[in-house]
Amino acid sequence: MAVRKAKKSKTKSKAKSKAAPKKVLKLKSKKPAAKAGAKANGLPKPSSKPFGQAGKALDGVKILDFTHVQSGPTCTQLLAWLGADCIKVERPGVGDITRTQLRDVKGADSLYFTMLNHNKRSITIDSKHPKGKDILNRLIKHCDVLVENFAPGALDRMGLTWEYIHKLNPRMIVASVKGFGPGPYEDCKVYENVAQCTGGAASTTGFLDGPPLVTGAQIGDSGTGLHLALGIVSALYQRNRTGRGQRVLCAMQDGVLNLSRVKLRDQQRLKHGPLTEYSQYGQGIPFKEATPRAGNDSGGGQPGWILKCKGYETDPNAYIYFITQAPVWASICDLIGKPEWKTDPEYATPPARLPKLKAIFGVIEEWTMTKTKFEVMDLCNAKDIPVGPILSMKEIAEEKSLRDTGTVVEVDHPTRGKYLTVGNPIKLSDSISDVKRSPLLGEHTEEILTKVLGYSSKEVAEIKMSGAITPPDKPAKAEAA
Ligand code: COA
Repeated sequence: MAVRKAKKSKTKSKAKSKAAPKKVLKLKSKKPAAKAGAKANGLPKPSSKPFGQAGKALDGVKILDFTHVQSGPTCTQLLAWLGADCIKVERPGVGDITRTQLRDVKGADSLYFTMLNHNKRSITIDSKHPKGKDILNRLIKHCDVLVENFAPGALDRMGLTWEYIHKLNPRMIVASVKGFGPGPYEDCKVYENVAQCTGGAASTTGFLDGPPLVTGAQIGDSGTGLHLALGIVSALYQRNRTGRGQRVLCAMQDGVLNLSRVKLRDQQRLKHGPLTEYSQYGQGIPFKEATPRAGNDSGGGQPGWILKCKGYETDPNAYIYFITQAPVWASICDLIGKPEWKTDPEYATPPARLPKLKAIFGVIEEWTMTKTKFEVMDLCNAKDIPVGPILSMKEIAEEKSLRDTGTVVEVDHPTRGKYLTVGNPIKLSDSISDVKRSPLLGEHTEEILTKVLGYSSKEVAEIKMSGAITPPDKPAKAEAA
C-alpha cells in the first residue's frame, strides 16, 4: 500500500531527526537525491511496472461504509473504484432502503441500489444488538475510514460517537454527509431537492416568469458525495503526517452552494448595476434584489441559448446549446448567412450585441432549424464554435465513445441480469477502475467475520444464533445473507 509505505518512511526519518538531527543533515548534503535512491523525498523509487499495473490508488485503505440512499454511497463507490476495500454495513433483512425502491425487476435489487454500490462488500449487522456492537468494534479497529450519512444523531444513538470511535481507533477518519452544517437546521433530515432549494440552485434555475426549478443532475446527493470523497482522501493524506484521524463533514447545503458559486458572484455584482449577460437585460426587464432565474442563459461571459434543430416538432431533444463566443463571431456570421454582421457596428462587438441577444439567437435558430443537432455540431466545431447537442439518456446509453472509455458500462448481476451503469468518471492513468457488480444483501457477512475480523466458525455460529446478523424474526435459521 503506497500510502502506508510513505508514512512508514516518514516516521522513520522523523525519529532519526529527533535523535540525531545533525547526522541527518550531513547525510543529506553528502548524498545527492538521485543516489539516495529508493527513499528520496520520503517516496519509494518510481515503479518500473507498466502504468495501470501497479495496483490502485487507494489499495490498502479500508472503509467501514455505513452509508445509504445516494449521497454516502456515491462517495464510497468512488473510493472503492479507486481501490479501497469498502465494507458496507446493512441492517439484517432490510439493507439499504434503496435496494427495494423504484424496483423494476421483481425480487432483484433495484437499479437505484445497484448503480450506487459497485465494488463493495456487504455485511449485515444489527448495530443496536450487543453482539452487533462487538462486530462493529472490531470493524472500527480494522478500518481506516468510517463513512455515514444517517440522519443527524443516528450514529450517536447507536453509541458510535466521535469520542467513542476515536478512543477505539485514534487513526480512524469519520466522514459524514448531513443536510446542513451547524446552525438552525442542523437536526433536519434532507433529501436531494431540499438541498437544491436551500443551497441556492433552485432559486436561480428556471425561467424568469416561472417558478423555481430543480435540476435532474443530483448535485445535492452525488455532488456532496464527491465533496466528501475529496475530504476523505485529504484526511488520509494528512494522517500520514499526524498519525491521527479526524472528522470530515460535508453538508449538502454547502455542497450545492459550492456548485452554485457563480450565482453568489452575480448576487454581489447586482450592487454595481444590471447583469448585462442575462437576457432580461436586453429585454429591458429590471433586476430585483436577488440573482434572478436565467433560463438557458450561459453562466459565464459568453452568451448562449438553447435553439431548436430539425425535427424539434416531434423529438423533445432536437435542440442544441449555442454559444456566441466572441472570438469566433465572424465564423458564426458566415455560417448562418449573415456576413454583414461582422462589420455592422450594431453587431460587431459583444457590448453592441448584448441588448439584442434574443433577436440574434432568433436568427441563429432559423439556421439551426434547417439542420439536425449533429449536423449543427459538426458544422460549428469545424469552425471552433462551441455548441452542445441536447443528448437524451437513450443517445448517451448508446454512445460508443462513452462505452469505449468505461464511462458507460454494462454489468451482469445474478438476479437482474445485464444492466447499464455509469463507471468511474475520474480516470487515473496508473489506477484503472474496473466496475464490479453491487453485492447482494449480506453476501459477504461470513467472509468478513472470518477472514477480515478473525471470528472462528464456532463464534460465527453463536453470532448467527444471537440475531445480530440476521433478521429479528429468524435468527437461528438465516444464513449470512
Ligand atoms: N442496524 C440497526 N439500526 C440501523 C442500522 C443497522 N445496521 N442502520 C441504520 N439503522 C437505523 C438508524 O440507527 C436509525 O435509527 P434511529 O433513528 O432509531 O436512531 C434508522 O435506522 C434510520 O436512519 P435514518 O438515517 O434516520 O434514515 P431515514 O430513512 O429516516 O432518513 C435520510 C433518511 C436520508 C433523510 C437521513 O438519513 C438523512 O437526512 N441523512 C443525512 C443527509 C443525507 O445524506 N441525505 C441524502 C440522502 S441521499
